[in-house]
Amino acid sequence: AFEVRLASSGKTYTVQADESIPEVLRRNGVQVDVSCEEGYCGTCMTRYVGGQPEHRDSVLDDANRRSYVMICCARAKEGPLILDI
Ligand code: FES
Repeated sequence: AFEVRLASSGKTYTVQADESIPEVLRRNGVQVDVSCEEGYCGTCMTRYVGGQPEHRDSVLDDANRRSYVMICCARAKEGPLILDI
């Protein structure tokens, strides 16, 4: 499990091994756009401002990975992963 925090609200949520970030956010009333949910369409691209994501998408290049994360499939190596939403 790892933690994800929203920069706007400051709220922190725990993402268990068997769930995705969008699943957890939606369950807590935070709507996020997803489509493929497999890391290739780009719909869920989200800026992050803290933490160290474990990227699992096939869209972002190394430069973009310093600021953006595909939340449908990403995990966090070091949390909380702070999303700019
Ligand atoms: Fe397609 Fe995340 S929903 S890359």
